[in-house]
Amino acid sequence: MTGPGREDIPIAADDDVVRIRQVVRSYAQRARLSLVDQTKLVTATSELARNTLTYGGGGSAVVEMLGEGRRQGVRASFADSGPGIPDIELALTDGWTSGRGMGLGLSGARRLVDEFTLDTEVGRGTTVTVVKWSR
Ligand SMILES: Nc1ncnc2c1ncn2[C@@H]1O[C@H](COP(=O)(O)OP(=O)(O)OP(=O)(O)O)[C@@H](O)[C@H]1O
Ligand SMILES: [Mg+2]
Repeated sequence: MTGPGREDIPIAADDDVVRIRQVVRSYAQRARLSLVDQTKLVTATSELARNTLTYGGGGSAVVEMLGEGRRQGVRASFADSGPGIPDIELALTDGWTSGRGMGLGLSGARRLVDEFTLDTEVGRGTTVTVVKWSR
């Protein structure tokens, strides 16, 4: 494995979402994820970065290489200090949106990864972390 083990990326504009897609793709390749799994992770992280921008008012992403024995993976975390999510279950329901979206970003992202954690507090912000492992 060559290249950095961790990257911090601010999320303040559309361009940052593009940048995150590129970084996640490159980490996923280095972690030897299959092409299908690379795309699943890129799709999930793209949705989360978009939510950070749209609902969180911006924030930051951390992308990291994980190594556990012979297994490798990628972790991506999205944090904002926005309004938080009052009802997590509702937010994770397919088709539910508080805005003009399709309501498929969070629920879809959860299905596309191996590990998904959502930490949120009203008035404080939201952090969503996802992991995908090579298999
Ligand atoms: N970072 C966040 N901060 C505050 N609320 C959020 C955040 N991320 C998601 N939400 C809330 O959860 C809802 C569901 O998110 P989800 O990504 O599933 O759908 P969407 O963004 O509304 O539409 P889509 O992603 O399909 O275009 C959002 O409408 C919003 O109310
Ligand atoms: Mg969304």
